[in-house]
Amino acid sequence: MDSPLFSPLEIRSLHLKNRLVMSPMQQYVSPEGLVGAWHLVHLGSRAVGGVGLVITEATAVSPEGRNTLFDTGLWNEAQVAAWQPVVQFVQAQGAKIAVQLWHAGGKGSHAHPAAGFHYIAPAEGGWITKSASAVSLDPHQTSQALTVAEIQALVGDFREAAIRAVQAGFDAIELHAGHGYLFHQFYSELTNHRSDEYGGSFDNRIRLLVETVQAIRAVIPDVMPLLVRLSAVDFSDEPQAWHLADSVRLAAVLQQHGVDVVTASAGGFGAPDRSKVVPLYQVPYAEKIRAATGVLTGAVGLITTPEQANTIIASGQADLVVLARELLRDPYFPLRAAAALHTKTPVPVPYTRAF
Ligand SMILES: Cc1cc2nc3c(=O)[nH]c(=O)nc-3n(C[C@H](O)[C@H](O)[C@H](O)COP(=O)(O)O)c2cc1C
Repeated sequence: MDSPLFSPLEIRSLHLKNRLVMSPMQQYVSPEGLVGAWHLVHLGSRAVGGVGLVITEATAVSPEGRNTLFDTGLWNEAQVAAWQPVVQFVQAQGAKIAVQLWHAGGKGSHAHPAAGFHYIAPAEGGWITKSASAVSLDPHQTSQALTVAEIQALVGDFREAAIRAVQAGFDAIELHAGHGYLFHQFYSELTNHRSDEYGGSFDNRIRLLVETVQAIRAVIPDVMPLLVRLSAVDFSDEPQAWHLADSVRLAAVLQQHGVDVVTASAGGFGAPDRSKVVPLYQVPYAEKIRAATGVLTGAVGLITTPEQANTIIASGQADLVVLARELLRDPYFPLRAAAALHTKTPVPVPYTRAF
């Protein structure tokens, strides 16, 4: 029997064998931005476990784009060479792999989470963070507002990182435009108080993201998918907060500029009301964006069972099911889900006697 969760999907020329996606998850094990044995095993295990698409953790386009000193990067050739064996191993398992590119903006320059995740000043090896405006996203520091020249240089950093992603062999690129990081700092009025062409109106606040999408599309192959992760809503009652209607409008613009998939996450400035954080709570965001724009969507957040995942695809709420913590608990979730849904899926040859 076939189940919708294990139906293939074509995105441009990319063939995904099923709808299960490994969500980006920062590991904080990469001094100098270099991946190594940890990433080979960590990402490779989920490919062995049967996901259709692996998305790497948020990978910085410049040293100042990092959230911590231990984030992965794609700002130099050594990092390209380090990614290559990881990319090749994942692909050899029949999975595809996208790199999630980001810039942490005003949330940058932090210590390792195990060391307290506090802001690190320049004298201690950190840097002065820059954002849309001079805002405090950390109680111990205030970011500086980026100049227009600096914004244009940033777009260039994303363009160069996208070129390196192609060199490294990645199948697709995802832009991290949610969770209170740089793009989100620009599109939400909670943090964007500019009065130039990058602030004020909706079109101005999304300009950085749109210009980055255009710059990346111009340098990657036409056949290569481009994904964007948004925070569909700010968890805030402030009148300036970003709402689902804004995300629908943004998704339509991104689609016009060649974005293929929008993954609908949420939040980034402050915590949500815990009582609302229930299984599947973010799925309606993906559903609304998909219904209103026709763009392919990814649903993410507290999806933990094969039945939930299958229903999301079967009911047309989203095109992809993006799993984070459940895949940390069980890298073989896709193989288990296929069995639970009475569906055949390829099993790695050395493991066939177990299935
Ligand atoms: C350890 C960890 C690291 C994360 N790092 C990232 C990241 O690099 N980029 C990102 O977009 N989301 C990141 N997230 C958020 C997840 O991708 C996901 O959206 C969130 O955990 C909700 O999905 P879940 O309920 O399946 O865990 C991270 C989550 C975890 C648990």
